[in-house]
Amino acid sequence: MNLSGIMILVGLLLVGCSKQTAAQRDALESTKPGYLVAKNYCSQCHSLPFPDQHPPAAWPYVVSRMQSYIETAHRRMPDPAQRKAIIGYFEKN
Ligand code: HEC
Repeated sequence: MNLSGIMILVGLLLVGCSKQTAAQRDALESTKPGYLVAKNYCSQCHSLPFPDQHPPAAWPYVVSRMQSYIETAHRRMPDPAQRKAIIGYFEKN
């Protein structure tokens, strides 16, 4: 395959990833620990973020900021065990 063929393939792969639907993501990830808890609490205001958006060490701070939004907006608040499961999902994936 020549270089332009490879670039087209890379492009298709990237498009494929970004167009992953929520259902496809569920199929791939619903058996991972914490995924369903994260989905339940973290898609109340926006779509569920992807773990690679932040390095593992940053997630506790992101989740704390989100919990203050949850409090202000009177949305469903994860309890401490659920918070741990959510952070575990984002840190380990
Ligand atoms: C009450 C509504 C609400 C809920 C529920 C919520 N978020 Fe957010 N989220 C926001 C708002 C508003 C922003 C944009 C402002 C900001 O980034 O501070 C945001 C932005 C983000 C971003 C992009 C900005 C960044 O720091 O990368 C991430 C990642 C994120 N949220 C993760 C989460 C996670 C993880 C959860 C579950 C624990 C969650 N959110 C639940 C309201 C919410």
